[in-house]
Amino acid sequence: MRCSVIGVLLFSLTLLVTVIVASTDYYKILDVPRDAQKAQIKRHFKKLSRVYHPDKNSGDEAASQKFMEIANAYEVLMDDEKRSIYDRYGEEGLKNGGGGGGHGFGGGDPFDIFSHFFGGGHRQGHQERRGPDIIIPLEVTLEDLYNGAEIEVDISKQVLCDHCHGSGARRPEDIHTCNTCDGRGVVVRRAQVAPGMFQQFQQECTACNGKGKITEHVCPSCSGKKVRRGNENYSIHIERGMNDAHKIILEEEADESPDTIPGNIVFVTRTAPHPTFERRGDNLYTKQHITLIEALVGFKKTMSHLDNSIIELERSGITQYGYVQTIKGLGMPHQDNHSQHGDLFVEYNVVFPTKIDEETIEYLKKGSTFPTKNQPKLVHQEL
Ligand SMILES: *[C@@H]1O[C@H](CO)[C@@H](O)[C@H](O)[C@H]1NC(C)=O
Ligand SMILES: *[C@@H]1O[C@H](CO)[C@@H](O)[C@H](O)[C@H]1NC(C)=O
Ligand SMILES: [Zn+2]
Ligand SMILES: [Zn+2]
Repeated sequence: MRCSVIGVLLFSLTLLVTVIVASTDYYKILDVPRDAQKAQIKRHFKKLSRVYHPDKNSGDEAASQKFMEIANAYEVLMDDEKRSIYDRYGEEGLKNGGGGGGHGFGGGDPFDIFSHFFGGGHRQGHQERRGPDIIIPLEVTLEDLYNGAEIEVDISKQVLCDHCHGSGARRPEDIHTCNTCDGRGVVVRRAQVAPGMFQQFQQECTACNGKGKITEHVCPSCSGKKVRRGNENYSIHIERGMNDAHKIILEEEADESPDTIPGNIVFVTRTAPHPTFERRGDNLYTKQHITLIEALVGFKKTMSHLDNSIIELERSGITQYGYVQTIKGLGMPHQDNHSQHGDLFVEYNVVFPTKIDEETIEYLKKGSTFPTKNQPKLVHQEL
């Protein structure tokens, strides 16, 4: 009898342990230390979201699940109250209604959090220093501007060391307050300026170089530099008809430094030169070569548009050298209204034959000629 009671007890203990082990570690999910500052949590969340966001992994159930986990962890750790409940009682504490909103997103949509970042939300913490913006010219092909596109850009930038999270120390315990200046970073010195006269002045503490803190063991990963060069891939949305000098802003994605909010990365678009089309505003310009015969009797030909659709070019009768044909609505889409388009202008250049035989010359000389301004009546009917 006794034996089985202990057995049941042991069994339930095992169950309890299993439950605790299996419960979610929000810090691990976001890859941040338990004492992470909000700025760091936010940074890691953004980084991970870029990888797992459903927009980038359509139809991938696992990625979508992962994204929900990340968003959930972020939601809890960014909320002071929820975070403290989670720190004390774990996920269970949140489930038991400790946070008021209960478990999960508290009614919030994880995608809202995401769009809040990437759609230009407001920024808190005016007291924190802010790093400079990085301005990057972005040449976009005419095809991408015509059709719209997601383009991947690999940016090299300064990032915080992953190992010490920007503290520069091997472990948080390795950072001590400087004894020489008591953490003030400055020391007061007295100097004799005249017999019996002293002047006091402040000097930067040489023991800690004015930082007020001394690091006993530096981080082995960055040698105490706190930062390293890193690469980040960004996916940039190119909207149809995006104008030149359009600014695409990635908030707080510029160089990372300790105790600093990163500035923005600002991409400034520019239309790349295209072999066939030239863009001027919402209009497109192109040149077509036609033969002498085509110039004289007309033609039907086709050319490929920027979305690979076929443009039909048709003329009857005579086409003058340099004649420009306007094709309505085949220019660039308007950035503000994609269903409206600029126009396409096609300029015809006549390619003359390189040789002409005597017979033809004689025939042409025989009282007939091509129309010119001075001789409008001398049109050769049989040509
Ligand atoms: C960025 O993308 C390139 C190729 O597109 C890849 O080689 C590189 O590893 C990626 N970098 C990161 C940090 O994901
Ligand atoms: C966009 O242009 C189309 C065609 O001219 C028009 O019917 C539509 O109302 C416009 N949409 C907006 C949002 O202006
Ligand atoms: Zn480091
Ligand atoms: Zn000091």
